[in-house]
Amino acid sequence: MKKGLKVVTIGGGSSYTPELIEGFINFHKELPIHELWLVDIEDGKEKLEIVGNLAKRMVEKAGIPIEIYLSLDRKEALRSADFVTTQFRVGQLAARELDERIPLSHGVLGQETNGPGGLFKALRTIPVILDICREMEEVCPNAWLINFTNPAGMVTEAVFRYSNIQKVVGLCNVPIGMEMGVAKLLDIDHDRVRIDFAGLNHMVFGLNVYVDGVTVKDQVIDLLTDPEKSITMKNIHAMGWEPDFLKALDVLPCPYHNYYYKSGEMLGKELKNFKEGGTRAEVVKKLEKELFALYKDPNLSIKPPHLEKRGGAYYSESAVRLIHSIYTDRRDIQAVNTMNKGAITGIPYDSAVEVSCMISKDGPKPLTMGELPIAVNGLVQQIKSFERTAIEAAISGDYGKALLAMTINPLVPSDRVAKMILNEMLEAHKRYLPQFFS
Ligand code: G6P
Repeated sequence: MKKGLKVVTIGGGSSYTPELIEGFINFHKELPIHELWLVDIEDGKEKLEIVGNLAKRMVEKAGIPIEIYLSLDRKEALRSADFVTTQFRVGQLAARELDERIPLSHGVLGQETNGPGGLFKALRTIPVILDICREMEEVCPNAWLINFTNPAGMVTEAVFRYSNIQKVVGLCNVPIGMEMGVAKLLDIDHDRVRIDFAGLNHMVFGLNVYVDGVTVKDQVIDLLTDPEKSITMKNIHAMGWEPDFLKALDVLPCPYHNYYYKSGEMLGKELKNFKEGGTRAEVVKKLEKELFALYKDPNLSIKPPHLEKRGGAYYSESAVRLIHSIYTDRRDIQAVNTMNKGAITGIPYDSAVEVSCMISKDGPKPLTMGELPIAVNGLVQQIKSFERTAIEAAISGDYGKALLAMTINPLVPSDRVAKMILNEMLEAHKRYLPQFFS
């Protein structure tokens, strides 16, 4: 008989891994993980060893009986897994830098998960997640796949539409980050706050906000009209919302909405960084260097506070809460990326949405949100059209589909500009896009 759960983390050499380990340590009583396999590719071997050794020290210091294994053999590591978590980046940070810099060189927003950058991250990542799914079918067909890999919504949708693995959940830290942000605004404990989330990954809205079950949405919107107060993430420039706009919108936008409702200002800031200091990928590269220097220290056996400079705050908490609720059939409410199944009116049944769900041993069951408010529905639908087209392009390697996806993205100004960016990015990422070149 198995002694406890086997978890496999693909992209185990990521600088975010200590975040996850901290979560597993804190929840070990309720979530008895016995084996944790950190898996990476040959190019990530050095990082895997550094992070893996820190993970071992963290577990040892905490006195928790989790056995940590490091592996470059993905399929073997996956054998008999109960949960598989994915946090990999195809092409590593160098590819992210190209995703940001090429669009910016054409005067178009360059961002990891939005606009042309998001499209290319999907084109590179979807074939790899589908390979992972094929391996899971063979060696751990009953495991749950918890995907954090970005663009999390598109990657999750590709899995349930194009693979036989159906026990898949996409996870993002934006919903928990927004609940934490509201708790901070109101100066109360996070677990008293609940938001009704509906939308897509990095395009999610808070339709209502409750404290102890009583709505406080108007109060929160009022507080957010103060330019000094905002709900932000480390990777997005904080800018307060125009008070009259926010009041009229009447739902909570997420930090990524800055790219859509403040497109001009955001592009201006990004272009400035592009020309002067460096894009987010370059900032993260520097941060990673510092992080790995810390991780190497044999005396370090906790998650260093320096990791909080990354955008992924609270990932560990949401990941562990999700796995825990599936494992214990907890039936609590969490916002995740899952199949719509009619929860949001007008979005295809089999498309991924980010929505509040009841989490049980059968996974997420989306709560019915109905029709989105008219003012936000159009943008959500447009992004879903972009996402579906992008997924089809990633699967087929069809140039026309990729151009269509790029052009219908609201952050791209025209078909001609889309074509120029597309051609340059296809060439730059050729190594990771065999479906377009065979
Ligand atoms: C936010 C997003 C994540 C993303 C991260 C990037 O947290 O929700 O999906 O991975 O930011 O942060 P980084 O520090 O890599 O720019």
